[in-house]
Order: sequence, then structure tokens, then C-alpha cells
Amino acid sequence: MHIHDKVIILDFGSQYTQLIARRVREAGVYSEIHPCTIALDELKDLSPAAIILSGGPASVGEPDSPGIDPEIFQWGIPILGICYGMQLIAHILHGKVTPARDREYGRSELEIISDSPLWEGVQVKDTLTVWMSHGDTVLMPPAGFDVLAKTESIDVAAIGNREKRIYALQFHPEVAHTEHGDKIISNFLFKIAKLSPTWSMSSFIDSTIKNIQEQIGEDRVVCAISGGIDSTVVAVLLNKAIGKRLHCIFVDNGVLRMNEGEEVVSYLREHFDLNLKYVQASELFLGRLNGVEDPEQKRKIIGHTFIEVFEKEAKAIAGVKWLAQGTLYPDVIESVSFKGPSAVIKSHHNVGGLPEKMQLRLIEPLRELFKDEVRKVAVELGLPDFIVWRHPFPGPGLAIRIIGEVTKERLEILRRADKIVQSELRASDWYRKVWQGFAVLLPLKTVGVMGDERTYEHVIALRVVDSIDAMTADWSRLPSELLARISNRIINEVRGVNRVVYDISSKPPSTIEWE
Ligand code: XMP
Repeated sequence: MHIHDKVIILDFGSQYTQLIARRVREAGVYSEIHPCTIALDELKDLSPAAIILSGGPASVGEPDSPGIDPEIFQWGIPILGICYGMQLIAHILHGKVTPARDREYGRSELEIISDSPLWEGVQVKDTLTVWMSHGDTVLMPPAGFDVLAKTESIDVAAIGNREKRIYALQFHPEVAHTEHGDKIISNFLFKIAKLSPTWSMSSFIDSTIKNIQEQIGEDRVVCAISGGIDSTVVAVLLNKAIGKRLHCIFVDNGVLRMNEGEEVVSYLREHFDLNLKYVQASELFLGRLNGVEDPEQKRKIIGHTFIEVFEKEAKAIAGVKWLAQGTLYPDVIESVSFKGPSAVIKSHHNVGGLPEKMQLRLIEPLRELFKDEVRKVAVELGLPDFIVWRHPFPGPGLAIRIIGEVTKERLEILRRADKIVQSELRASDWYRKVWQGFAVLLPLKTVGVMGDERTYEHVIALRVVDSIDAMTADWSRLPSELLARISNRIINEVRGVNRVVYDISSKPPSTIEWE
């Protein structure tokens, strides 16, 4: 279906495999990650224009180490091996690989010793700083390969066979610490494999709309809008492709931020003429949450109730055959990647088994994209900053930011405090710099003094974190003036709060949310 050149990255379990895919895409070439266990025929069916072999934790000398069909090297396709990928090339093509005495990890100085298209435009002083992370090293390249670079500790740090267009690097060009790493990857893509940089977000939008039209035909599609960027982009793309045959449903579960649902819904209605139904189900959700304190229980109740409400609404639309979902590429890779010989391969779960239950087919137009690419698509589609840069917001919403029981009174307090956090972060330009920022309502009261009176009121915790993927996070070093302003405003403007604390824990060992 793709009109683009495609690079296939075979994953041998490196922590950097996703980074390779991103770098290739940033260079303007579409890339996909597949497990190294893929059969050669299957690989050929994917019609790649070039192949990259990732790094990995194994050692080629070990009996169970992951391998590759040697025929791949007879295929005539350009190949780049990185780290383990290099050792594998050397091992299979009868070079010599040896376990290193020590694992080399971190920065190293690379000395280029032979001209190669790989080094074009890479301005080297005497050496180039590169990032290493390996145990084994190549002692002798296979026949037909030149040694292209070395470091102080290894004599063979890069090799290449110009005629067969097979190259390999001991270091990691995909990590930011490697100087000119992106240039080296571009050289492989454009100077060696002669690919064209046609992957861009506008080409993605055009081809996706065409694909959706072909896939859906004259059918109808239902889509849940959450207010977040992913589901909004899915809805806008589908709207462009099939117009009124898309039916969007927004469920107000009673634990949303102040005005959040309405904002997105009215924006979409105004600008995109969507078929969009706003379902007010607050009372149902809050009724079921009544008296519940356990966070996992809250999550379950909200999840099940959502499915129930959504299913009822979707069934009321005649002739719906598809469910659209905002699945992203990291979720997809999670289910296919190779994580070493002992790894359990996880399967990707859709929202609570809904498609099976309703016998709907799934359409996931963003399943090829990384989060930053979704943002670019959103910009290209003309979506406003308040949608493009919106912080992630959990499905169970404010219910897991009210520690203990969720009541209307507590929701009201948290909404007001959170509104101040949001508006101060936005006004100070910190909103876009941080990953997430929000207020949490604690289940305790503390003593304070207001005027001449002693008070005994709620505590709000402020949680603001920096992160790139929510897997790890650190508390944001907000300026103290900003913290002071947020705290003053919450205490002065939100009745029932007399104390604000700032959460200075990192993840791990803490988590981003408090429940
Ligand atoms: P934690 O608290 O695990 O959060 O560090 C990591 C990221 O996931 C979000 N989060 C959730 N999102 N349902 C969701 O849709 C949930 O139950 C949930 N719990 C946490 C959290 O906001 C952060 O972005």
C-alpha cells in the first residue's frame, strides 16, 4: 500500500531499536521494526529498500544467540549492522569475532581510517565522539570488507563492503551522544542505499486518507473521542476520508477536568463538522464510584462503565462495522519486538475487548506513528496548540487524583485547584516544557490560620514532571516564583484548601500519578 521506500529494522533486543526507527524517519524515510526471528520469505514480502540489523544483548558465540538467514547477504539489498548487527555480519560471513575482556560502555573516540560514502560530510577533526555499548568485538572483517574506522580500544570499529553495499558499525549512530550520528545514518540511506526522502507528515496524511477510503468502502465507523490528541487526530483523519459516515462519541464520565470535554467537543464541532455525540453520563459513573476507595477498583468501575455506555451508544447507530482507535507505534512494537531468547511476547490489548464483543473490525490509522509524529500530523491538519500540546490525561481521570473516596464536593475542590495549575503553567510557558502537571487532592486535613481564625482544611499536592515516555520521570524544577504563585492562588481562591505541597519524587521509585 505504501508508495514510500521502506527500511526494515530487524530487532535483536537492543534498548535503542526504537531510536533507530525514529532517526530513519526523521531523515524522511519510512521505517518499521520487525523481530529478528522473521522468516526470510516474509521479510522479502515486505519489500524493504534497505535493512538495518539492530544491536542486542546477546553474544554471537553463545549457542542460543539470535541469528539470521545467511541468504540475506546474497539478496543484494543494502544492509547496515549496528553493534550486535555488526558482530553477526562478521560472524556469518566468516570474519573473526571475539569476546572483549571488558564490556565497553559510554563515550569513545572514533578514528576514521578509510574513505567511505558513510563518512561523507562528517567533518572530523582528528576523531569523532561516538557512543559504545558492547561486549564482543570484530577482530578481523570478512573477506571483501574494508576496515573503515577504529578506536583506541578496538581496531575494527566500522567495516564496509562497497560492492555488496553491506556496512557495519560497532558504535551506536542512533544515540544523541554520537557526533554526526544522524549524518552517518543519512549517508547509509541516501549515498549507499540511494533511497528517496519521501516520508513526511503531509504524505502520511494523503496516503492514510486514501487507505482509509479503500479499507472502509461504504461502511460506517464509530470512534470514541477522549479529548486527547490521539483520538482527536484519528477522528479528523477519518472525517476527511469518509465524512458523515464517521460517528464520534464523547462520554462525560464525571471525572474530567473543568471544561475539558466541552472545549474539545465544541472545537471539533465548529471546525470539522463532525458527527459527534456528547453523552452526559456523570451521574452513572459517580453513583458507581460512591464509597469506593481502592484505586484499582476505581479504574475497573470506570473502565467497565465506559464500555457499557459506549456500547449502548454505538449500537444505536445503524450499520456500524468498524471501531477506530488511536493505537500508536510503540504499542504495536511492544507486541512484536524481540526481547532476547527468554522474552515473553506481549499481545496488544484493545480497549477492554470491545471490538470482539461488538463484532466490529478495528481501524487504527496511527499505528505506524510515534507520539511526536502524531503531533506533527495534528499541526499539519491545522489543529490548535491547546490540542496538539495537551498533557496526557489518564482514562480514570480525576478519580485517581482524589486519594480515597470520590465525591462531588472533593471533585469541585480538585477541579478548581487543577484549573489554577493549568492556567499558571500555560501563562508562564512551562506547560510545553513539562510532560505533565496537575493537582492531587489528599485525604487529610491540616491546621492553618486565616485572619484570626484557626482552620482545618484540605491539602493539595502539586505534581509536575519531566519525561520523554512516562516510563521514567523526574520532578520539574519549576521556578520558585511560579510555585509561590500557584500555591497562593490555590489557597486564596479555592475554598476548603489551606495548604499546598510540591511532590519532589522521581519515577522510579515513585509513579507519576498518586494512585
Ligand atoms: P504512572 O502513574 O504509572 O503513569 O507513572 C504513567 C503515565 O500513565 C498515565 N496513567 C494512566 N493512563 N489509565 C490511563 O489511561 C490509567 O489508569 C493510568 N494510570 C496512569 C499517567 O497519567 C502517566 O502519563
